[in-house]
Amino acid sequence: MPHETKGVVARAKGEPVELLDVVVPDPGPGEALVRVQASGVCHTDLHYREGAINDDFPFLLGHEAAGVVEQVGEAVSDLEPGDYVVLAWRAPCGQCRSCRRGRPWYCFDSRHEAQPLTLADGTPLTPALGIGAFTELTLIGAGGAVKVDPRARPEVAGLLGCGVMAGWGAAVNTGGVQRGETVAVFGCGGVGDAAIAGATMAGASKVIAVDIDPRKLEMARGFGATDTVDATAGDPVEAIRDLTGGFGVDVAIEAVGRPETYEQAFYARDLAGRVVLVGVPDPSMRIDLPFIELFGRGGALKSSWYGDCLPSRDFPLLIDAYLRGQLDLDAFVSETIGIGDVEAAFGKMQRGEVLRSVVVL
Ligand SMILES: NC(=O)c1ccc[n+]([C@@H]2O[C@H](COP(=O)([O-])OP(=O)(O)OC[C@H]3O[C@@H](n4cnc5c(N)ncnc54)[C@H](O)[C@@H]3O)[C@@H](O)[C@H]2O)c1
Ligand SMILES: [Zn+2]
Ligand SMILES: [Zn+2]
Repeated sequence: MPHETKGVVARAKGEPVELLDVVVPDPGPGEALVRVQASGVCHTDLHYREGAINDDFPFLLGHEAAGVVEQVGEAVSDLEPGDYVVLAWRAPCGQCRSCRRGRPWYCFDSRHEAQPLTLADGTPLTPALGIGAFTELTLIGAGGAVKVDPRARPEVAGLLGCGVMAGWGAAVNTGGVQRGETVAVFGCGGVGDAAIAGATMAGASKVIAVDIDPRKLEMARGFGATDTVDATAGDPVEAIRDLTGGFGVDVAIEAVGRPETYEQAFYARDLAGRVVLVGVPDPSMRIDLPFIELFGRGGALKSSWYGDCLPSRDFPLLIDAYLRGQLDLDAFVSETIGIGDVEAAFGKMQRGEVLRSVVVL
């Protein structure tokens, strides 16, 4: 029997999201039905609404969630009703050319649910990042449900499903921050602050937070930033050089998704340093760098998809770090909101008022 519920849907480019009736099928083979308990509002949801990801409207938004398994389909052996899970938008397939080469954190064929959720009139919904979690019930490929310690409340556990994992992993997995290294993070939203927390846990000697909003810089200190740079007060590249003996940082992490901040990250690093792009650019954006500088500065220019994480390894690990007091996930939750408040939460995000608004269902 299909289930009827409400979901937050983006119907058309740039239009406010709506809370609409959504039909959720019973789980088929390899699928799990999950009762969502909490789901964070990520900037990527806003990118979807603005048509900056693709044009497959209507979208069912939400992809940063925790909940409880309600029902599983055939051929699901490692999940059962009652399991407390975080939803992952990557579930390595084990078969694609990347998985086969031993690099499942890049899996090119991640498995999501086969059956679409639909609007009441049967129109199929495109779930954000294959998840669609601003709804009480959702259907996902069982591999995307990762069991974690239920002592972590859903508002914080769900954050691992996207922003916190992406930022933490950008520093630790993609950037490979080592003890004693210097790091700069451009953009101190949920993703950037998680990168700051990750760099701090990895033993960075200096973590420089860069933002245009003084409130964000203040919050960044709480996650371990040793220094802050207000990018509106002068050239942030110069400020970072001044803080690093004139050299620049070992690892520069871009967590905004704009050409100007990428360029700053590019120039703010020491010779042979690493740049990590975790911010998601709009398809219309271009970047223009002197070719000789790409050669002359050496090092590595990397992009970080989902923090190059392995959800089954990294989600429980970070939940355990939270429960031991090593990772302050509570500090990411600026407010909890109802399912009808996502549009308002986008506004708060754009005005810089929140790190994360988390929908509680
Ligand atoms: N790579 C991934 O897997 C992945 C996963 C999740 C999110 N993201 C992306 O990461 C980015 C950040 O997400 P978020 O949820 O933290 O967003 P957010 O809007 O909460 O934070 C962005 C921050 O950047 C700051 N900022 C804006 N312009 C700036 C500038 N010129 N210089 C310095 N700081 C500036 C803002 O003040 C804000 O604090 C988004 O592009 C999002 O789509 C990527
Ligand atoms: Zn794969
Ligand atoms: Zn996200």
